[in-house]
Amino acid sequence: MISEARKYQAFYTKSTPIVDYMVSRLSLKPSDTIFEPCGGDGVFVEAILNENEFAHIDICELNSKSIEVLKEKFSHFLNVNIRECDTLLDSELDFNSCFGGYYDKIIANPPYGAWQDYSKRTVLKKLYPDLYAKESYGLFLYRCIQLLKEDGILSFIIPDTFLNLHMHKALRKHIFTNTQIVELALFPSSFFPGVNFGYANLSIITLRKKSDIKACMNNTFSVINNFDEVEQLNNVKDNSLKTFTFKQEDVFNNPDHAFLIAENSDILKLINHSKLKIGDIADCVTGFYSGDDKRFLQVISPELKNGKNYDLVNTDSISSDYKNNADILSGIDGDKHFLPIVKGGNTKYLKPESWFMNWSKEAVQHYKTDKKSRFQNPKYYFKFGIGVPMISSSSITASLIENKLFDQSIVGIFPKDESLTYYLLAFFNSPTCNKLIRTINPSANNPANYIKKIPVIIPEKSVLDLITEKAKRIVDSIKQKGIYDEKTETEIWTIIEEVYKI
Ligand SMILES: C[S@@+](CC[C@H](N)C(=O)[O-])C[C@H]1O[C@@H](n2cnc3c(N)ncnc32)[C@H](O)[C@@H]1O
Repeated sequence: MISEARKYQAFYTKSTPIVDYMVSRLSLKPSDTIFEPCGGDGVFVEAILNENEFAHIDICELNSKSIEVLKEKFSHFLNVNIRECDTLLDSELDFNSCFGGYYDKIIANPPYGAWQDYSKRTVLKKLYPDLYAKESYGLFLYRCIQLLKEDGILSFIIPDTFLNLHMHKALRKHIFTNTQIVELALFPSSFFPGVNFGYANLSIITLRKKSDIKACMNNTFSVINNFDEVEQLNNVKDNSLKTFTFKQEDVFNNPDHAFLIAENSDILKLINHSKLKIGDIADCVTGFYSGDDKRFLQVISPELKNGKNYDLVNTDSISSDYKNNADILSGIDGDKHFLPIVKGGNTKYLKPESWFMNWSKEAVQHYKTDKKSRFQNPKYYFKFGIGVPMISSSSITASLIENKLFDQSIVGIFPKDESLTYYLLAFFNSPTCNKLIRTINPSANNPANYIKKIPVIIPEKSVLDLITEKAKRIVDSIKQKGIYDEKTETEIWTIIEEVYKI
């Protein structure tokens, strides 16, 4: 059973600084007609009525229990109109958005990723064909931009994923070409009391509707981040906050219209103008999944993180010559049919062999046919390349895939020119690369599509050879002495920084 809170994503904005900030961004006037598209228990409405008890407010809310609460609180206000309806599908709102909008101000904390049954998803997909229907907040934002009058203002608190994710490209385009962004505040989701959304960061976006595209493109807006505490929202001139100013046209012209927010304009220049990207010089692919790791995956020691949930591998069953087996993608005959697999986890340069996959003929046959298995990109299995974990705890990391299998929590990177492998291994482990990927995608995720977009510079041969030699030294030191050579690593960081100049 899905809980009421999850079904309606009823996480209310119980934070006075957040509510005050959002209401202040609306620059309310006594004559405004205001819309609250996801009423909940009415925190925004209360705050607006505190400023102006005669404010004309329309509230929509889907959940009948919340409607009861709203009616109890506000039905004695003749200027507040409460309707039980679906904001995304309601025909009265359709009508209001047809004729250039209806509302002067809109304020919302819409549901994030709200659960939608399949029939509704199909309807939404038809109504909002360019948008990502599974993520509800984007649909609410789009809908409310339609509902705004010319020069009307909207303030929304939503996850920051719309800034960069591919699936929100159409939404970004819509924002840039139909509105002027007024301000964007970015802060950790922990500022939002009591709920763990599973989203890394939240944002409050304030927009002004503008039908003149030139005026949209010429608009400049500020992005504020580096918040330590939620109260700073009520004093955005605070010196410890960072404010970046952008021309809307410049952000619109970024690849995929992504909001690239970097401290340093050289980082943006590199991302926008570099001739080479990782995707041009390497294949970046996701790895293998057995479909049932408890059954097929074994571990070298129960002490390993998550190790006790898996069977211990019998070292006699580990294949020692699989690298010479030309027919390895069909599986291995005989008892020695376990082989090492590179998994996620942020270990740099070289991971110890800790996990082993059943690669018997029968098992491989299973992987190729089972619905849950992912026998994907097999032509890259057992090749020499680099593995970058899909999720990084802090900085991006990379380790060698020395002709091994790699699992789906890893993006395998296989340079077209194999002699670049150690240089790229060093690059992916450098703060320079981290700056670039975190500008391309600020979340801690590194899916293949983002890795492909990282700009890359191939330095002159002497520098390339020097970095390659140092990266090999780090790998050899781990292999032979079990020692991580931090000194050499720092030397590499400095050289890479000189190459990229960021
Ligand atoms: C995240 S809560 C926010 C409530 C309130 N605005 C606040 O900030 O405290 C989202 C609210 O939207 C309502 N809701 C979800 N889907 C809706 C829809 N399609 N149409 C109207 N309301 C919806 C939920 O029932 C819930 O009360």
